[in-house]
Amino acid sequence: MSKVSANMHDDIEKVLLTEEEIKEIVNRIGKQITEDYKDKNLVLVSVLKGSVVFMADLMRAIDINAQIDFMVVSSYTGTSTTSGQVKIIKDLDLDLTGLDLVIVEDILDTGKTLHSLMKILSTRNPKSIRLCTFLDKPDRRVAPVKADYIGAVVPDEFVVGYGLDYDQNYRNLPYLGVLKPHVYES
Ligand code: IMP
Ligand code: MG
Repeated sequence: MSKVSANMHDDIEKVLLTEEEIKEIVNRIGKQITEDYKDKNLVLVSVLKGSVVFMADLMRAIDINAQIDFMVVSSYTGTSTTSGQVKIIKDLDLDLTGLDLVIVEDILDTGKTLHSLMKILSTRNPKSIRLCTFLDKPDRRVAPVKADYIGAVVPDEFVVGYGLDYDQNYRNLPYLGVLKPHVYES
């Protein structure tokens, strides 16, 4: 049974990043990418659904032409190996040949998903691949993945909002918060 409150704000224990702080993060990364990609053929690839809010803000903070595309992948199976495989549920529409790819993610956690996804995408002859993640949880890393652009490093707590969900809820919270334990504890 869902323990999600009618008012989603009531389920938040503490705010980790305010809307203002998020705006500053997005602007900083947008400027950096604008500078780094001004002579390149930038394509932003967002992995649905978690990164959709960050993607929508970030693309408007980038002041050079950028193509965008979206993917849906299934989560890895198995928990202990570093070689978690992802299955592509919805593939890209664009041909990546010769393009400078930036993968846009909501959170880099164990890194299994990204590790597998970057392997797949690198076989499609992009000119370059970089990873941009809104949040990094380095304490949880299992696979050897490093992000090139990081919004904020967060501790090993379950965070929601700004696209991130718990059981498909809270994605539309405009800030980033830590969930009260009673929501996920039985
Ligand atoms: P991983 O890096 O392969 O473990 O997978 C990262 C994915 O796990 C993210 O795209 C999120 O969907 C999910 N995830 C990990 N940590 C959190 C969290 O604190 N809140 C919400 N989703 C999370
Ligand atoms: Mg998720």
